Amino acid sequence: MPTNDDLLRELHDRREEAQKGGGAERIAKQHEKGKLTARERVEILLDDDSFQELGAFVRHQTSDFGLENNRPYGDGVVTGYGTISGRLVYVYSQDFTVFGGSLGRAHADKILRIMKLALENGAPVIGLNDSGGARIQEGVVSLGGYADIFLQNTMASGVVPQISAILGPCAGGAVYSPAITDFIFMVRSSSYMFVTGPNVVKTVTQEEVSFEELGGADAHASKSGVAHVAYSSEAECLFGIRELISYLPLNCEEPPPVVPTSDPMDRADEALNTIVPSNPNKPYEMRDVIDRIVDEGQLFEIQPQFAANIIVGFARMNGSSVGIVANNPGVLAGCLDIDASVKGARFVRFCDAFNIPLLVFEDVPGFMPGTDQEWHGIIRHGAKLLYAFCEATVPKITVITRKAYGGAYDVMNSKHIRGDLNIAWPTAEIAVMGPKGAVEIIYRKQIAEAADPEAEEEKFITEYRERLANPYVAAEYGYIDDVIEPAETRSRLIRGLEMLKNKVAKNPPRKHGNIPL
Ligand code: HXC
Repeated sequence: MPTNDDLLRELHDRREEAQKGGGAERIAKQHEKGKLTARERVEILLDDDSFQELGAFVRHQTSDFGLENNRPYGDGVVTGYGTISGRLVYVYSQDFTVFGGSLGRAHADKILRIMKLALENGAPVIGLNDSGGARIQEGVVSLGGYADIFLQNTMASGVVPQISAILGPCAGGAVYSPAITDFIFMVRSSSYMFVTGPNVVKTVTQEEVSFEELGGADAHASKSGVAHVAYSSEAECLFGIRELISYLPLNCEEPPPVVPTSDPMDRADEALNTIVPSNPNKPYEMRDVIDRIVDEGQLFEIQPQFAANIIVGFARMNGSSVGIVANNPGVLAGCLDIDASVKGARFVRFCDAFNIPLLVFEDVPGFMPGTDQEWHGIIRHGAKLLYAFCEATVPKITVITRKAYGGAYDVMNSKHIRGDLNIAWPTAEIAVMGPKGAVEIIYRKQIAEAADPEAEEEKFITEYRERLANPYVAAEYGYIDDVIEPAETRSRLIRGLEMLKNKVAKNPPRKHGNIPL
């Protein structure tokens, strides 16, 4: 009969074995590649000593391909829960040192268990992905495991935040679980996402491309828009997730967290009064405007490298989280193109799903013209942003800093589509189109027949600007609630958000809407 001491020793031995993952040699290889182990990542991600592991002794039940002789504890994924700044989160962290982190039935079931708990208890799921994909030896069973996860990701969408870090290879169907989640963070030089790797690409299309070029962090953060942020190290990436979590509620029933700030709510900023150049064609950096208005100038930007003509990200106003959506006249004059529309729409929908009020800073000359945009579907994609703002029921405030032209005026959270509070700076120009374009259409004949067409056009442009390209016509109609001194924007916005704190707005009952995909 074993004694209690024997039983405890056995427990400790087994636990020690479970901690080893794929063994010292494979761990050393992981470190050589500049990668941390699954457990080291969890340690960095979570508050000290908060991680509670579940399923450490799970093993696969497969006997094909000699796997019956290789049944490591944990089955290649570390799962459990812990806290980030004292708040509950669920985590899974794939262990590349065990079967290359590949996903078999037991591995999938561990992830599914975490997701089920997260849904039932209303807390985010953070997936640290480092996996060779479906476990080849388990065949269709591993494909089933992936599909079960895709379904659970979809069920959890909009209920609890789901965040994916890609910290190694991520190929084949394995990219689709992260793709369904809300945010994907990647690390330069060690994480990859692709449907098929460079070798298959070469066979099928004769293209020669490196891992990094095809599916590295920068490729996805700047070209495809698949990744939301690219980091230079795993530690930075994990700290990035901690920072992101600080802005989010744990689930869709909760308000976002409040983080006390020493930034005075009525802080005026005189520099805002002159930040917009008097020449309407001169760009300025909208990020400077945002920095001067939000708490402590801190913006957690999402997709900063992608579609930089629109800025989206999280900030705080008097301690409360807000989602910022801002045209950036510094890039493509702030035009809305396909990528900017999709980027904005997805962010707006995330904020709406998780009760995060939206602050919109608007300086937009319109949608991007041209065959490239038209043939790739700017109508369909631009409609996504329109739809997203229309359906959003969270508090929504717009500040028009300069141009609000044409359809883009409507789209960027105008009051007509349930913007709650719309204010303009004196520099605002709200019109169907810019003065030059407008006079060339409505006065074409007069300009052509004038003795000095150029002077005539200038005269009409000045007239048009005085009559229509200002905030006061819109204010007369009540489309703008107030024209304010830019310096006082922060306090006006904080008061507006406070006023809207208990807003209740609903959409008609239905199965679901049909956003133009
Ligand atoms: C089982 C795997 C594995 C897999 C890797 N390993 N991938 N075991 N199933 N899918 C094992 C290797 O045998 C090796 O075991 C260890 O993990 C490390 O792999 P290496 O190849 O030595 O590492 P590295 O050189 O860094 O290359 C990593 C890699 C490569 C790029 C991920 O292993 C690879 O290409 N793997 C296959 C990727 C793939 O095609 N997966 C299926 C995708 S399809 P030992 O014992 O030697 O340490 C898919 C379908 C999903 O996922 C369907 C959803 C719809």
